[in-house]
Amino acid sequence: MQTIEEGTAQVTHTQGDPGLYAVFGQPVAHSLSPRIHAAFARQRSIALDYQPIEASAEEFVGALAAFAARGGCGANVTLPLKQHAARLCLSVSERARRADSVNTLVRRGEGWHGESTDGAGLIRDITGRHRLYVRGRRTLLLGAGGAARAVAFALLDAGVSELTISNRTPEHADSLADAIGDPERVNTRYWNDLGNWGGFDLVINATSAGHDNISLALPSSLLASRAICYDLSYGSASFGFLAWARSVGAGHAIDGLGMLVEQAAEAFEIWHGKRPATDSIYAELRAYLPGDAED
Ligand code: ATR
Repeated sequence: MQTIEEGTAQVTHTQGDPGLYAVFGQPVAHSLSPRIHAAFARQRSIALDYQPIEASAEEFVGALAAFAARGGCGANVTLPLKQHAARLCLSVSERARRADSVNTLVRRGEGWHGESTDGAGLIRDITGRHRLYVRGRRTLLLGAGGAARAVAFALLDAGVSELTISNRTPEHADSLADAIGDPERVNTRYWNDLGNWGGFDLVINATSAGHDNISLALPSSLLASRAICYDLSYGSASFGFLAWARSVGAGHAIDGLGMLVEQAAEAFEIWHGKRPATDSIYAELRAYLPGDAED
């Protein structure tokens, strides 16, 4: 038997009861995660029931407990719940502890174990899908919120030569830099001063400005030649930054769709012990989403 329902993403084409999985967030109705995990499950012949569950920060504890009581074995967590999830776990991985962010929950006994797969997803997308290198790049991270924090450690682990953090509220950039340590490679700069620190060859937009339809005021002198500009968002939220990147001659302007798919593949492997191939669902979503926000 094979049933596939978009939205609730029920996939049953192996023997036995489908495992119960979910993505928690607010808003979550338009999350692509059910569709991605359904595609992975079909590909790897795994029975899966993966549903979106809308929950505010206040509702999350209760919603997660109810999910566990129904037999939930794993969940993804998206905005605005990633830091809350980290607090609710009985144990967290080293990656999640450093990022202070959990986007993947695994049921272990009576509690939840937390993982953070966002950073690995970003690096795999840049290096695997786009076949670009990260090591040795002078890197600018725009933003210092949860998304920035989740990728900062992964960028350093991947060998960037320098990580400059700039944020609208400079104190938030300073506290992220302090939390990371590594003063040899990590520094902060005032946003208004960025024009004096140009020559970055990797620029990551981890702000949420695009979600509010706000353009970032960035100097044209920011980029070294053939620089990579990467927006952690996808769809219309990434359009403004990527249009700016192209207008100032970036070598590559890439949105976060590939990162979304790769972090999901990491989560899938954690839950099911099998790594799914990602190219076909990436192509399907790329065709479905507006814009061509790529190289
Ligand atoms: P997320 O989990 O998406 O990172 P967040 O933790 O609320 O969400 O962080 C949002 C980030 O985008 C912050 O770095 C925020 O800057 P502040 O620390 O000054 O709030 C940044 N941001 C949001 N709107 C912005 C804007 N219009 N211009 C520049 N940065 C903005």
